[in-house]
Amino acid sequence: MSTAASNVLEVKGLTKRFGGTTALDHADWSLAKGEIHAIAGENGAGKSTLCKMLAGAIVPSEGSITIDGKTFSKLNPAEAKRNGIVMIYQEFNLVPELPIYENIFLGKEITKFGVNVDKAAMIKKSDELFHQMGVKVDSRKIIADISVAYCQLVEIAKALMENAKILIMDEPTAPLTNQEVGILFEIIGRLKERGITIVYISHRMEEIFELSDRVTIMRDGKIITTREIGDIDQKEIISLMVGHELGMDFPVRGKTERSAEPVLSVRNLTTDKIRDISFDLYGGEILGLAGLVGAGRTEIVRAIFGADKIKSGEIYLRGKKTDKLSIHKAISKKIGLIPEDRKRQGVHLELPILHNMTLLQLDRISRLMTINPKKERAGADEFVKKLRIKMGKLSDNASSLSGGNQQKIVLAKWLANEPDILFFDEPTRGIDVGAKAEIYELMDELRSQGKAVIMISSEMPEVLGMCDRILVLYEGNMMGEVIGETATQDDVMTLASGLKLEK
Ligand SMILES: Nc1ncnc2c1ncn2[C@@H]1O[C@H](COP(=O)(O)OP(=O)(O)OP(=O)(O)O)[C@@H](O)[C@H]1O
Ligand SMILES: [Mg+2]
Repeated sequence: MSTAASNVLEVKGLTKRFGGTTALDHADWSLAKGEIHAIAGENGAGKSTLCKMLAGAIVPSEGSITIDGKTFSKLNPAEAKRNGIVMIYQEFNLVPELPIYENIFLGKEITKFGVNVDKAAMIKKSDELFHQMGVKVDSRKIIADISVAYCQLVEIAKALMENAKILIMDEPTAPLTNQEVGILFEIIGRLKERGITIVYISHRMEEIFELSDRVTIMRDGKIITTREIGDIDQKEIISLMVGHELGMDFPVRGKTERSAEPVLSVRNLTTDKIRDISFDLYGGEILGLAGLVGAGRTEIVRAIFGADKIKSGEIYLRGKKTDKLSIHKAISKKIGLIPEDRKRQGVHLELPILHNMTLLQLDRISRLMTINPKKERAGADEFVKKLRIKMGKLSDNASSLSGGNQQKIVLAKWLANEPDILFFDEPTRGIDVGAKAEIYELMDELRSQGKAVIMISSEMPEVLGMCDRILVLYEGNMMGEVIGETATQDDVMTLASGLKLEK
């Protein structure tokens, strides 16, 4: 299928070094016209680095990129776009204060008589782009007011505006709900029909199999292999990614000693999004919150942490009634929250990795206002090992980390504070399969230390595999509780769809 003639892009010996790190090591690779080409690999394998060089965002150290017969030793973003390569980054590239249509036309505004900006024409053209994608979007909306899913649609519309021939998407589904993923896949299908080549980076195996024609597997900066999707299975992809066979088993649940009294109790909690929610959380257990996206799982956490206004209801902490918590108060009360949107709420890109990891516990490691660097470093080293954080030096800025490794830093930051109660909101999203297992083990360790853990996850096997009890929500209401060890996916789905269990 991929004869040289049908290739839209070829890469030879492409290499990128960042100081001592070789992020991409002499890659030879090609893309066929109109294919959907997935890239799989662990966090830090070099997926984003490869793609960023194609899009002109970073300059190669060695090697060449050939697009439609033209060979480049490096590209700048404008050249990449002119040659039809557009990349949608893990972080979007939109101006929050501006409406959708202005974002689409940023720097290429349509003008009337060459002077006045023709707003109506830009709105009309934007609407046309969304129409081509098969979605309805009001292009006058301000970016800050739309969801991440819509931001992504805007990025795709921008790419269509640029006449993209090769569209690169870096983990596009990570922030999307299942329904939104469905819409995205339809759009990708339509782009493919129009002959656009799609490069698709993802950690979700099911998506790779559902969507792609070919898959490239990367490990440690090297391209290991490229295969037709029909010629490989999930197990082989994972073992090629990790470099050895990997069992995806959950830690065996030990006999947990649950604390006699609950450490956190919620009674009749009601906000705009949730109604009459009551539950108890004990030390030594992992309590799951399941439900479809929008069912109110994150909203419970937001209410407890004071992000959403509580209309009625009470929160008890270790038996004592408490006002809503602020993040600040929570930290001093040894409560941790690993947020869903870790990129926006967790990482300080311009600070060293070390400080990112120790931000919350400066009082503990400092004595008389001076930080004890040895202690700070020892704690950090431990988490680097435990979470398999792939990085250069602890003194490097967090911006030097791959997306998944940035997420691990946020995890480390909260764990280093040694919380007694810990909320994990989608803890394994964007995390590669190998490191997922490490996170499961870490959660299990917290449980056996008697800590209280709440886990929110959209991945059903993960919820069933990890949680002792699971509370299932539907449209802001508590539908019921099931036991992790005995419940089935069906039980949880039934409750999550607003139905009762027949028992
Ligand atoms: N600006 C930078 N400075 C220094 N090192 C960098 C920089 N960007 C990337 N790296 C390093 O290059 C390697 C590859 O990173 P890359 O972002 O390509 O990984 P990835 O495969 O996209 O991972 P993820 O799945 O976590 O997004 C990593 O070790 C990373 O730390
Ligand atoms: Mg990446």
